[in-house]
Amino acid sequence: MSALLEIENLHVQFRLPQGLTELVTRKPRRIVKAVNDVSLTLKQGETLGLVGESGCGKTTLSRAMLGLIEIAAGRVRFDGDDVFNRRRTEQLALRRRAQMVFQDPYASLNPKLTVGQTLAEVFKVHRLCPLHQVPTRVAELMERVGLSPELEDRRPGELSGGQCQRVGIARALAVNPELLVADESVSALDVSIQAQILNLFLKLQQEMGLTMVFIAHDLGVVWHLCQTIAVMYLGRIVEIGDAEAIFRTPKHPYTQALIGAIPQMQADAALNANLLAGEPPSPLYLPSGCAFHPRCPHAMEVCRSGAPPVSHNTRLVKVSCHLYDKEKR
Ligand SMILES: Nc1ncnc2c1ncn2[C@@H]1O[C@H](COP(=O)(O)OP(=O)(O)OP(=O)(O)O)[C@@H](O)[C@H]1O
Ligand SMILES: [Mg+2]
Repeated sequence: MSALLEIENLHVQFRLPQGLTELVTRKPRRIVKAVNDVSLTLKQGETLGLVGESGCGKTTLSRAMLGLIEIAAGRVRFDGDDVFNRRRTEQLALRRRAQMVFQDPYASLNPKLTVGQTLAEVFKVHRLCPLHQVPTRVAELMERVGLSPELEDRRPGELSGGQCQRVGIARALAVNPELLVADESVSALDVSIQAQILNLFLKLQQEMGLTMVFIAHDLGVVWHLCQTIAVMYLGRIVEIGDAEAIFRTPKHPYTQALIGAIPQMQADAALNANLLAGEPPSPLYLPSGCAFHPRCPHAMEVCRSGAPPVSHNTRLVKVSCHLYDKEKR
């Protein structure tokens, strides 16, 4: 399988507006290092689960993947072409090949348009088919995402959260994308509805051979959907690899804590769950050394200073942690 998406040493930073303190003390504007030296490759048809606590950079990384925000350094290639070095027409073409589904199903739909109009608009704007075929294509799309035909004339306010999310998914699928990025797209829904939407993603992935990035706070949500899992902490990927291997034998202490925090997986890892108490540190003030060291039960001297740990590759996963320095090969 060839690579659809290649990310190399990606950095994304936000400059905060100058506050009073900076103005008075003439200090430079503060910089949020939201994505810090991230590299990953996504093969055609692969499903990647991107997990980590709030603020770790998941949304920023996914927006950079699609060329939607400016990057500070690094490179993103989609199907071999640089995402940030494109002419306008090429950028439009990318918009069709890569789509995003958002967290809040109500907010991402136009409240004035019916389901039918919302979906028809995509076919018309992108000129995906002759006008007379639009109603048929809309009906097909609704069926594909499990929306019954009588919902076509309803507006978002008359739909449930799950139904709205299905409309959001249908809209993303209308252009027949190769890559679908779902950003926390079930977290706002009730648990039973979450399961239905996750099953829909699974079905679509199998039927359409979609390459997917599935973003969630909760590892439990992504693990049966994804072949690969990437765990992010303060802008960095601390562990990435085969989902099964990461679940069975998480290597990074942070991944162990995340798995311990999943309610239905009360194994030994649960002991580590209280590590995640409180907020993660701010990416404005990144700890030196390994950014996880202030919360890590295994932190050693080497973890506290110097450069962040380098990645260690095992057969199925890559982990950035000094605990594995001896296993270096
Ligand atoms: N436009 C922006 N301007 C300034 N800072 C930003 C901006 N967007 C994101 N950030 C900061 O960048 C960091 C990463 O944010 P991001 O939204 O990517 O995290 P996330 O992992 O998606 O979080 P969540 O799980 O809450 O959605 C956070 O500290 C956030 O406050
Ligand atoms: Mg986010």
